[in-house]
Amino acid sequence: MATPSLIVPHHVAIVMDGNGRWATKRFLPRIAGHKQGVDSLSRCVRACLERGIAVLTVFAFSSENWNRPFEEVSGLMELLVLSLSREVPNLNASGVRLHFVGDRQRLSEKVQAGLAQAEHLTSGNHRLIFNVCFNYGGRWDIAQAAKKVASSGEPITELALDRAMALAHVPDPDLLIRTGGELRISNFLLWQAAYSELHFSDKLWPEFDEAALDEAIAVFRTRERRFGQTSAQVSGHGQKTTPKAA
Ligand code: FPP
Repeated sequence: MATPSLIVPHHVAIVMDGNGRWATKRFLPRIAGHKQGVDSLSRCVRACLERGIAVLTVFAFSSENWNRPFEEVSGLMELLVLSLSREVPNLNASGVRLHFVGDRQRLSEKVQAGLAQAEHLTSGNHRLIFNVCFNYGGRWDIAQAAKKVASSGEPITELALDRAMALAHVPDPDLLIRTGGELRISNFLLWQAAYSELHFSDKLWPEFDEAALDEAIAVFRTRERRFGQTSAQVSGHGQKTTPKAA
């Protein structure tokens, strides 16, 4: 039987999928769905703060999203800059610390400056760490970590790679949610999600509200997290772990 844990997940990660379909269903341009997605994201951050979640990581723009039509990509870049100027003061006042995770080199100077400014302004906050993955890909992250470790001359071990990953400042996600009904990881947190509990919601991201988050947390609480051990070991009734050398 699953062991219910009544704590909230420490780290929640989200693939915010379904903005385009939300807009298309309403005969609106796709960017209208992304705008609504920003509102949904603000609501989600507030909900995480209220529930005592310590880390929230969201997938806002993937390395593959450059392949979308030019007007959607430029619309997302403009939306990012606009959202930063609108939302960062509120986030700062709420004790949220922002981190942007991903390859910044391809971003315009204006976008890069906005990210750096938001990170600097919120750097003293501790209530919620909010990682926004932007021009991010899980494969990119593993490759950049491997390059870093190799160039340091240190042996390439799991621990060394882990420390070089772009999310090294937070523990791995406990709960990974994907909205929009697709059952895929889509190059998100490939390294860090090794033991995350997965939850797939049929709700499109703009419709993902507090009740949907609570449902995901409730499902998480029913999961038994074994990290490779047996159920008996996890519940404290089984044999001890085999020593590494045996
Ligand atoms: C996936 O939905 C969503 C994105 C690629 C962008 C996510 C961005 C936000 C929620 C807004 C926050 C981002 C910024 C820039 C501040 P989709 O477009 O793939 O939806 P679909 O599967 O219905 O087409």
